[in-house]
Amino acid sequence: MLTRLFRVSDKGDFSAEDLRCIQEAADVIRDGGLVGFPTETVYGLGGNALDASASKKIYAAKGRPSDNPLIVHVSCMEEILPITADIPETGKKLAERFWPGPMTLIFRKSDAVPRETTGGLDTVAVRMPSDPVAAELIRRAGVPIAAPSANTSGRPSPTRAEHVWQDLHGKIEVILDGGPVKVGVESTIVDVTGKTPTLLRPGAITMEMLEDAVGHVEIDPAILGPVSPDVHPKAPGMKYRHYAPKADLTIVEGDMDRVVGEINRLAEEKLAAGKKVGIICTEETKNRYPEGMLESIGTRSRQETIAHNLFAVLRDFDDRGAEYIFSEGFAEDHLGQAIMNRMKKAAGYHILHV
Ligand code: TXA
Ligand code: MG
Repeated sequence: MLTRLFRVSDKGDFSAEDLRCIQEAADVIRDGGLVGFPTETVYGLGGNALDASASKKIYAAKGRPSDNPLIVHVSCMEEILPITADIPETGKKLAERFWPGPMTLIFRKSDAVPRETTGGLDTVAVRMPSDPVAAELIRRAGVPIAAPSANTSGRPSPTRAEHVWQDLHGKIEVILDGGPVKVGVESTIVDVTGKTPTLLRPGAITMEMLEDAVGHVEIDPAILGPVSPDVHPKAPGMKYRHYAPKADLTIVEGDMDRVVGEINRLAEEKLAAGKKVGIICTEETKNRYPEGMLESIGTRSRQETIAHNLFAVLRDFDDRGAEYIFSEGFAEDHLGQAIMNRMKKAAGYHILHV
């Protein structure tokens, strides 16, 4: 299949040409095809959420297990009613506060949503993205769009159109290039079907923000550590080794001086053995490592810079052929909870405390 790539404005000030491209992508979705498109979190791989065969194509293109449900994207509240069985009070409050934006809510599904889209579950994950290209695409498609992250299953999520191209060209009809995404980690997922809302995946809408909106929020244990094979986390996707670079990633945490010392020591050891080694540092520490395969992921004083660069840095090291990556660890408050959740999974929970 020939994949067409259309560059469109990321500001919402669409030219006639931009709108023609978005319309063409919307027509592909209406016709049962697949489109890679930007959202504010990561790029999505979209198909008609109400069409079981489109959902099957999504799983095939990603190489994703079909028990891992898709998120259904809408452009306004009216589009949610036909796909859900009911909208609980906490769901309403969270939707009013944080939509459109980087949050996904789990509702009980209606019959309109095929089980192929929900991985066989009775519930449906719904998100209203704030990205103007995503919103325009959904509106023009006239159907809700099922979209997982637009990466090959198991690889780091795509934060630029080039990443989508690398993983999916030849497998999907269109990629809309709206430039680099804003947030860089996937949406916060909150299950509102139970008595107490439960966080299933941390993201840019932080625990602090959720609790400010609706009071106590529980945390699904799958977020906090490795999941054993006999456990079924509420978000089935959380059980897979996600976000992984090809290299063996180790996180080193603790007192900063000791972290820098240990990463330098480990890197030297591997280099001496003839291995290709990457180091992930921050603006604060970049002068304390040897030059070469060194990437600054952002500054500790602005967590959003770290989230923004996280997946691109992991993909860069893949492209540069790193065999081992050593990374500093990061604080786990606010956005740091999402950053460390992705980092730890990428590292297969290989973490050293010094
Ligand atoms: O930011 C995002 O959410 C991006 C963009 C494209 O919107 N999408 C995304 O989709 O991250 P994906 O498929 O990579 O991750 C979806 C996660 C998986 O962990 C899946 O198990 C969970 O959402 N999920 C989907 N439907 C669910 C449901 N009904 N109940 C529980 N978890 C669900
Ligand atoms: Mg994903």
